[in-house]
Order: sequence, then structure tokens, then C-alpha cells
Amino acid sequence: MTIAVLPEVAPRTDDLSIWPASTTRLPHGGLAVGGVSLAELAERFDTPAYVLDEGEVRERCRTYRDAFPEAEVLYAAKAFLSRAMVRWVQEEGLGLDVCSAGELELAVTAGFPPERIVLHGNAKSPRDIATALRLGVGRIVIDSPSEIARISAAVGAHGHQKVMVRVVPGVSAGGHDKIRTGTDGQKFGLSPSDGSAQHAIARTLGQPQLELTGLHCHIGSQITTVEPYVVALRRMVELMARMRDEHGVVLPELDMGGGHGVAYRPGEAALDLTALARQLRVELIESCAATGLAVPRLAIEPGRAVAGPAGVALYRVLAVKRTGEKVFVAVDGGMSDNPRPALYGVRYAPRLVGRHSTAAPCRATVVGRHCEAGDILADDVELPGDVHPGDLLAVPVAGAYQLSMASGYNMVGRPPVIAVHAGTARLLVRRETLEDFRSRDIGG
Ligand code: LLP
Repeated sequence: MTIAVLPEVAPRTDDLSIWPASTTRLPHGGLAVGGVSLAELAERFDTPAYVLDEGEVRERCRTYRDAFPEAEVLYAAKAFLSRAMVRWVQEEGLGLDVCSAGELELAVTAGFPPERIVLHGNAKSPRDIATALRLGVGRIVIDSPSEIARISAAVGAHGHQKVMVRVVPGVSAGGHDKIRTGTDGQKFGLSPSDGSAQHAIARTLGQPQLELTGLHCHIGSQITTVEPYVVALRRMVELMARMRDEHGVVLPELDMGGGHGVAYRPGEAALDLTALARQLRVELIESCAATGLAVPRLAIEPGRAVAGPAGVALYRVLAVKRTGEKVFVAVDGGMSDNPRPALYGVRYAPRLVGRHSTAAPCRATVVGRHCEAGDILADDVELPGDVHPGDLLAVPVAGAYQLSMASGYNMVGRPPVIAVHAGTARLLVRRETLEDFRSRDIGG
């Protein structure tokens, strides 16, 4: 068991509001997550390392189930997937959203029921489609006109496959240009404004082996307000009503995608899930009543909000360089395990763990070890002025889109994933080693 001890004067950087709920303070500047000391984890598993709080993941799944009891909640595997994650999500009663044969096979071979999986992708490969059909995936979301014929042909004249059509509802939302997907002019979905959505729906309905169960949209990611979802839902219902009028079909499902935003730094806004659930329910009932449409079953696909706040990244400080105005704190990971600051300008809140410092704070730039000046993990953050090589830094809200987007850059190797729960730690995914790099390279 861990003992929570507060330092006499809490440093300004001692805000734990964005950390997993299980986080406790230990003596001498230590911190425990899931009842396990982060400093001990760093000793035992080495750094960099990713820690995933199983209880936090499960609790977040339950929050979704409680907030959306009548909806289908599909965890978006792209945020982070491992066999343990597959099991947790399944045990908590969620379905799964995957976007490749790789994610799909991992999930199904880990025991996830394929009929509760939805396959996405703006460019599905022949292997994606073949794997989906072989494993019996629940639904395939059509994202371009050519897929209709490809999927139909692969299913065969006597086969049967449930599908949805991804629609662009014309709502712009999301934390960065690169992750806004709700309007025309980006690669995802089919637009009602130029008629391509209606055309795809009509063609799909004309394929006897394809069963169109509903429409899908995903307007963007890291969205922190409810309004864009409400507007998107209204437009989706209007389109469903128009399709009923034109084709006489009442589609039973409406998938509103994911994108639910989280706070990466204390004080930042997160999407209010209770408000989202309430307002979507009200809008769904009202807009269906206005068009006389039978209320479809809602589906949602959260990724980040399930996995993100459950993860903590651990790094060891390798060098501290004071140049002019700047203090650079260089750690043993970087853009190969977290490309998000470089890609989207995301700001994180690292903190010193495992040592209590009384030094005055300094403004520092936490950088990685990669061969690029843009390899910055956290720009202009507050750290103790005596930060030095050997110190341990922990970065909260590291569970989503970090390891799943990790690369082999500079052959540093991807960090391990360690699950913590009720005072015990276990390795979920081992560290990538030089042997892994060498064994893939068969060029002689
Ligand atoms: N459904 C679909 C169809 C999606 O494309 C996505 C995310 C989700 C659900 C889950 O979205 P979430 O709830 O996790 O926001 N790499 C970026 C995020 C890209 C999101 C891509 N699609 C990042 O690191 O912020």
C-alpha cells in the first residue's frame, strides 16, 4: 500500500487534476499510480516507459456505459491497442472501432467478438476487406464510392455484410487542422452537399448482399464542446429522413464517431460527457419527431477519452543545457514515442517525480533525444531549477495516440507498456530492441 504524504509547501507544479484518479503522493517527491511508485517502475522496467492504469481505463469505459446506457459505445482502437486493452474494453461491455486488418486481427485473436467490431478506413486495402470478411466483422463503414463494388464483389452474390456510409455533415470541429474531418475539402467521408453521400447510399441499397444499417460521421478529434455534435446529429437525422422519403428505408443506426476532448494540462477544458449524452439524446428525439423518423440506435466511438488520461510516460533526464535564455532538459525518449507536439503543437505538463526539490522553479523546454531541433516534448514548462541528469520526468495523459503513432526513428526503439493495478505492475508490451530492428532487416 502507498501512503499519501503532502509536501509542506506544495510546488505550483503539483496539480494532479489531470492524472489518473488512483494517483497518490509519496514521501520525498514520489508519485504512485495504481498503487505503484513511478520511481520503482522506472528502476524495474527502465526508461522511457509507458504506464497504463487499468482501473482508470475500466472506469472510463464505465463512465461511457453509464452516460450512454442505450447507445453502442465502440472504443476507437487507433488511440491505443494491446491484447490487455482488448480484454478490458470487452469486459466493460464496449464494442470496438478498428481501421486496419492489423488492429482487427489483434482484437479478434485476443478474443474480441468480431460482430461487435466496426471497420473504418478511407482507403481499405484488399487485405483489410478480405480480413474483415474472413473474421466476420460486424459492420464495414463505406468511405468512398469504389468501395461499394469492391466490398460487394468480395462478399459474393450469396454472401451478406452489414455496412454503413460515412457522411461529412459540414461541421468544423477539432483541436487542430489536421484532425478536423467534418467538412468538405478533406479526405474522409462522402458529402451530402455535392450529392455523393446520397449517391453512395442509393448504390449501397442496390446491392442485395450489402445491408445498410445506418449512417456514420466523425467530425474531428479533441473536441471540447457539445454544440458541434448537436449540429452534426441534426444534419445526419435530416439526411436519414430524406433517404427514407426517397428510398422508403428506415435506417436503424446512427454512428456519431468519437473526438471527445481531454485536458492535457491542468485547467484545460475537456468534453463534458454527461452534457454530451443529454444533449444528443434530446436532439435525437426532437429531430426524429420533427421528421417523423423512427429513433435510430446511437453509436459513439471514443478513443482518446478512454485511453489518454489513463497513461503516463516516464523519461530519464539525460542532459540539461542552459543556453542564453533557454534551459533545455533532454530526456531518453522524444518524437519517436510521442510525435504529437511536433505534429499538432500539443502542450503537455511534465513533472519531476521521485525526488523532492526545494529549488526555485525555472522555465524549461523538455526535448527528446532525436536528431531534429523540432523534437520538443514540452515547450516552456515549469520544472525545479535544480533539474539534472538522472532525474525522472513523468508526463500525464500519455495513453492515446503516442505509442500508437510511435516510430522507429533513429532506431531508438519503442518503449514498453506496463499495466498498473491495485499495487501491482505487469508488462503488457515489451520494449523494442536492436534485435527487433535487426531481425526485420533481411537485406544481408
Ligand atoms: N472514429 C473515427 C472514425 C475516427 O477516425 C477517430 C479518430 C475516432 C473515432 C476516435 O477519435 P477520438 O475519440 O480518439 O478523438 N492522432 C491524432 C488524433 C487522430 C484521430 C483520428 N481519428 C491526435 O494525436 O490527436
